[in-house]
Amino acid sequence: MDVRQLGPDGPLVSLLALGGTKFGRREGVKYPSSFELPSDNELADLLNLAKELGINLVDTAPAYGTSESRIGALIGADDHWRIATKVGESFHDGKSRFDFSPHAIRDSVERSRQRLRRDVLDVVVLHLSDNDEEIMREGAALATLLELRANGVINAVGASTKTVPAGIIATEYCDLVMITLNESDQSQRPVLEAAYAAGKGVLIKKPLDSGHHGDVGGALTKLAGVRGITSIVTGTINAGHLASNCAAVEQALASRR
Ligand SMILES: NC(=O)c1ccc[n+]([C@@H]2O[C@H](COP(=O)([O-])OP(=O)(O)OC[C@H]3O[C@@H](n4cnc5c(N)ncnc54)[C@H](OP(=O)(O)O)[C@@H]3O)[C@@H](O)[C@H]2O)c1
Repeated sequence: MDVRQLGPDGPLVSLLALGGTKFGRREGVKYPSSFELPSDNELADLLNLAKELGINLVDTAPAYGTSESRIGALIGADDHWRIATKVGESFHDGKSRFDFSPHAIRDSVERSRQRLRRDVLDVVVLHLSDNDEEIMREGAALATLLELRANGVINAVGASTKTVPAGIIATEYCDLVMITLNESDQSQRPVLEAAYAAGKGVLIKKPLDSGHHGDVGGALTKLAGVRGITSIVTGTINAGHLASNCAAVEQALASRR
């Protein structure tokens, strides 16, 4: 599996990454069908398989229920893994809540360090709400993350954005940006281009339109050939799907060599 640098001084991460929403949360998600959370053994097997396949990045968030603490217990101590997590959103009693104040960001990072069992967090991104441009322009949340990076608590900082203006700001001030790019949503292309021009990292979220896209292999093959993408964060709790997603990306890379 190809590895690429996530931003100017960021970690090396695999082109296919594992999205961790379904590791810990079943409520308030937009997947096509309901599902059971994987058991501890199933999740351990999935992460072992991902490692064998050359995947070294897993994406999680405090808003993904038990995802962070399960990942921390299973792979927090394993140097193979880079873990990306988020700040700003929490999910309780079926509802998302957002707090981008400096003290909320610091507290959230501290809790993530404990849950992930890591002193230094590889990647932390702002888990932005619909008013993402306002939060990026106001700047306190980002300044707090940058201060934590300067203090050595975080290696790379970014923003998971929804709009082009917020994404463009992220490409200016952060190490990386996390954007949606899939067959039915190409709206964030200008952010991808801006990140490429600035030498910043790009994580793709919802590459399969959260499971609503039928041609999974085709979607991943196309994304693997798109300039500027650092890592395609694909959610799955199914070992067979993980292996076939990996094969699709490997095949796409091999055909371009
Ligand atoms: N605001 C944010 O920052 C934000 C928002 C959304 C997502 N994310 C991150 O991005 C990750 C990916 O996004 P996502 O999970 O929403 O959606 P996604 O990766 O586009 O799609 C995941 C869905 O596709 C299915 N799938 C995966 N591989 C498959 C295959 N080979 N064949 C058939 N179905 C397949 C999965 O089901 P199975 O489990 O059955 O394989 C799952 O339901 C998330 O897990 C999260 O880490 C971040």
